[in-house]
Amino acid sequence: MNTQPSARLGNVLLAVAGGIAAYKIPELVRLLRRAGHSVRCVLTEAAGEFVSPLVLQTLSGAPVRSSLFDAGEEGEISHIELADWADLVVVAPATADRMAKLAQGLADDLVSTVLLATRAPVLLAPAMNVNMWSHPATRANAELLRERGVHFEGPEAGELACGWEGEGRMSEPVTLAGRVTLLLGGETWKGVRVLVSAGGTREPIDAVRSITNRSSGKMGFAVAEEAARRGAEVVLVAGPCPLPTPPGVRRIDIETALEMAAAVEQEFEASQVVVMAAAVADFRPAEASALKIKKEDLAPGAGLQIELVATPDILKGICGHKGDRVVVGFAAESHDVVEAARRKLARKGCDLLVANDISRTDAGFDTDTNAVMFVSPGGEVEELPLLPKIEVAGRILDRVEKLRKGTR
Ligand code: CTP
Repeated sequence: MNTQPSARLGNVLLAVAGGIAAYKIPELVRLLRRAGHSVRCVLTEAAGEFVSPLVLQTLSGAPVRSSLFDAGEEGEISHIELADWADLVVVAPATADRMAKLAQGLADDLVSTVLLATRAPVLLAPAMNVNMWSHPATRANAELLRERGVHFEGPEAGELACGWEGEGRMSEPVTLAGRVTLLLGGETWKGVRVLVSAGGTREPIDAVRSITNRSSGKMGFAVAEEAARRGAEVVLVAGPCPLPTPPGVRRIDIETALEMAAAVEQEFEASQVVVMAAAVADFRPAEASALKIKKEDLAPGAGLQIELVATPDILKGICGHKGDRVVVGFAAESHDVVEAARRKLARKGCDLLVANDISRTDAGFDTDTNAVMFVSPGGEVEELPLLPKIEVAGRILDRVEKLRKGTR
């Protein structure tokens, strides 16, 4: 069985320029390392005023360079070797000065020289005062760099360190890390539209109470993240959950099963791949009271009847008119996992069923790892080892890729 991680990892050369946002760079290094990338940092002379080279060296696990002319540094790994080593160069924070240098092709220090010498794609994370960002010179530089294929992430609007409000904040490390992974991913799913549902639904009983379930949404969010990283256009229909939207994903927040059904139907037509990871409520209260139901009217021990009605089976519904789309369903089973999953797949009519054994404590609800098995319409079963959910997501998409090739 192939146990190689499906994530595509790379060498990230992080060029840190002298801006206050540099204090966020250690977090970016940590996230990139955690995602499995190799990271090396090069600093401009001013960057060292804002972030400690020692911190970056410790977190990246590699020597930090800042001088073009330091014989010791250059002897260890030359600036040209650094430029060649990189699969992606990230400039963060990218100051107005750095953007101007790159636009003009200056090479008067280590960072600018590496940026000219590299053949790797370049990602800029601008950070500066709002007036500097909107200055015609900076606008023209940004335009020119974009035309040359330089990638940009941000800047974002908000409160700036200089006291002004407006566009100029560096994007958060988590956003930058997601974009890096996306750029390194090779974008093999470009042009494919993927619809993912995630999380549980919340079915109101009255103004304050509801029926819901233990789904955290993590598995579906991981599928959306991985699909976006592979370059797909991703729509994520999400039940109530506090997870951040993965970079590059369009998110539609819903609460109830009926709202999820409407959103999925709406987005289904234009999608080629559908992954129904959501834990949709099978029943909802027939009527939700607009007011809070008061218990004071009830005698102790008295029952309260809530009539439940079945929700539409969204997965089954879309499989009825799926055409040549690839549709993946999920199953949460507590016993007889394989047999229950086979029956479920036949009942729903999807192309692949991802079955969770929810009796395990290290897999399933609200964990970062998952142990699933793939069940195919022919009845074949593939059992995967315990893996981080993002890797399970990769395996699911690898399977979908094969299924898509088969249906073409
Ligand atoms: N699903 C759906 N609409 C529903 C219920 C479930 O689309 N109303 C989807 C889920 O997103 C998942 C799959 O169907 O992909 C399996 O859901 P599950 O609740 O396990 O299946 P059930 O048919 O409810 O089977 P059972 O309750 O007997 O386990």
